[in-house]
Amino acid sequence: MRTLLLKASNSAFLARQARRRRFVRATVRRFLPGEALEDVVAASEALRARDIPVCWTRLGEYVSTPGEVDEVVAAYRAAIHAAAGAGLDLQLSVKPTQLGLGFDPDLCRRATVALVRDAGACGMPVWLDMEAHPTVEATLELAEAARRALPDSAPGAGVCLQAYLHRTPEDLERMLEADVRVRLVKGAYREPAEVALQDRREVDEAFRALAGRLMEASARGTVDGSGGLRHVLGSHDVELLSTLPGLLPGGGEEAASPAAPVEIQMLYGIRTGFWDELAAGPVPFRVLVSWGEHWYPWFMRRLAERPSNLRFLVRGLLPGGG
Ligand code: FDA
Repeated sequence: MRTLLLKASNSAFLARQARRRRFVRATVRRFLPGEALEDVVAASEALRARDIPVCWTRLGEYVSTPGEVDEVVAAYRAAIHAAAGAGLDLQLSVKPTQLGLGFDPDLCRRATVALVRDAGACGMPVWLDMEAHPTVEATLELAEAARRALPDSAPGAGVCLQAYLHRTPEDLERMLEADVRVRLVKGAYREPAEVALQDRREVDEAFRALAGRLMEASARGTVDGSGGLRHVLGSHDVELLSTLPGLLPGGGEEAASPAAPVEIQMLYGIRTGFWDELAAGPVPFRVLVSWGEHWYPWFMRRLAERPSNLRFLVRGLLPGGG
């Protein structure tokens, strides 16, 4: 089922169909407060009232013209100003193929550095999402270029690394060496066995080992550069996170460190029952909230992570469903 859903995530035909169906849009709302910037602002203000800061991402990927890149950059600039106006504690997250990586890597580098600088001027760091494996090397180079373009005091930039890729242990050392912050996740794409682990238990083990390495590097005080931006563990696997020392409430003597060196992040709408506890816990906690019209491939990846989410879609099809 996971493979089927990830295959379907690449279908332009299904994307058009999904956007037209009310019951699909109703299900998407579980993971997305709305398509408009005002929706993400309102959701973020509600989270702030619960002491939960946010990271914003505008959905969309694999754009193919410079005009679309300009549009994406303009949308992020509008978001930066809206967040600054609302006084939100904000990070941004952006997909490199949304900034042109797929058709013009130079344009993408210029757009990324410009965005990182603009966000930095308002005190907001920028994360580069990690997409399918052919983009990994170019994304790491982008992250290094963004890091070099900024002074140590700037809020800076970081990059997502996927635990399922065989290459990630080396990439992690390379990013630590370059003083680039890392957001570690398990990985959301359908990847072949040549490049990625296929067994979920093996992916969990890889995540645990890499998270341990990241925490060890953080504990050596590397939160000074990049404007104090912390490394991130992006996961809803509370059971796995609870096996790492000092991350969750009641997690042992390391728990109360005020200079907690890593942050936990989760996606909007997922494992919400843990959020208040995490927000009051020993390490900072943040929620990544998305907005925008181009939600179809991203939504399909959320379904693939937990195929039982399909039941919400099925419920929407029934009489009286959303
Ligand atoms: P796992 O999939 O094992 O889930 C653990 C538990 O969480 C499940 O048992 C379930 O209860 C709950 N859960 C997880 N996903 C759910 C869902 N969709 N719906 C309902 N419940 C769910 N990936 C990537 O390739 N590139 C990237 O740039 C990013 N960026 C990113 C940022 C942040 C902040 C997060 C949290 C995640 C990402 N991801 C990502 C996605 C990541 O790779 C991964 O697919 C998901 O986080 C799911 O993996 P978990 O670690 O949550 O574990």
